[in-house]
Amino acid sequence: MIKSVIDILDLSTEELEELIKTAQDIISNPDDYADACRRKKLATLFFEPSTRTRLSFEAAMYELGGNVISVSSADSSSAAKGESVADTVKTVSCYADIIALRHPKEGAATVAAHASKIPVINAGDGGHCHPTQTLADLLTIYREKGRFSDLTIGLCGDLKFGRTVHSLINALTRYNNVRFVLISPEELKVPSYVKRDVLKEKGYSYVQTTSLESYMPELDILYMTRVQRERFFNEEDYLRLKDSYILTPDKLTNAKKDLSILHPLPRVNEIAVSIDDDPRACYFKQVSNGKYMRMSLILKLLKEAGRI
Ligand code: CP
Repeated sequence: MIKSVIDILDLSTEELEELIKTAQDIISNPDDYADACRRKKLATLFFEPSTRTRLSFEAAMYELGGNVISVSSADSSSAAKGESVADTVKTVSCYADIIALRHPKEGAATVAAHASKIPVINAGDGGHCHPTQTLADLLTIYREKGRFSDLTIGLCGDLKFGRTVHSLINALTRYNNVRFVLISPEELKVPSYVKRDVLKEKGYSYVQTTSLESYMPELDILYMTRVQRERFFNEEDYLRLKDSYILTPDKLTNAKKDLSILHPLPRVNEIAVSIDDDPRACYFKQVSNGKYMRMSLILKLLKEAGRI
């Protein structure tokens, strides 16, 4: 089967480090990559809303000299007539060289990869995985801290439905002496399978807490997340939980001077806009890093598929 990336675990530690190296080279020498994907096509199939992921994939392909074809919503494709993910992907394989797929159902990207003749990149499948957001997060951490080891990372907000959190935990548990502080309301804790199969299985230290303030002074990285309204079964629960954590300047009084504040975005209310000017705010740098990592990944997968 052609190599696809559905989960961050589909990439070895060496591959992750190679992707980061290429992304840094693209940042330094963009002209060297301007024709790398000439006459190649990326299909972005987005059956769930997106701003950053779809547009950064598309910008990435244009900056590599390639072209893009796109489905930007479920109701604008034959999915609305009942076409399966597998048939959609078999069809798109006839037009494009690589696919980025976002779908509301967990497992849709795996189904797509099995049906496809071209590489499939999971651009988010329900509450499951979002590996290219993790690539953006990793490049941001690397550029800010220069390492992945010896870090205390606070993950705060909706840790149950936040697929970026699950992928980031999986990625960082490859490195030494990473300590996780899992900050969430009781109802939105990290799923037990992530704690059991990843954190406990690999022997990583973690604490679960509802208090951001208590752990703030210890954090090297604070990864804020939005409460995922679209994954709730009832609106009342969402309304009760949505403002559980709002990062305001006063809450940073005891934070480290070199704390890095990340957020996969979109932000709803979790970080006060006044923090955007704080040098510790890295979330718009993360957006930019996401494009470079997607460029790096498109190049890798097209090379391995023999298409460039
Ligand atoms: N971070 C992220 O996935 O953003 P979008 O939903 O806008 O793509």
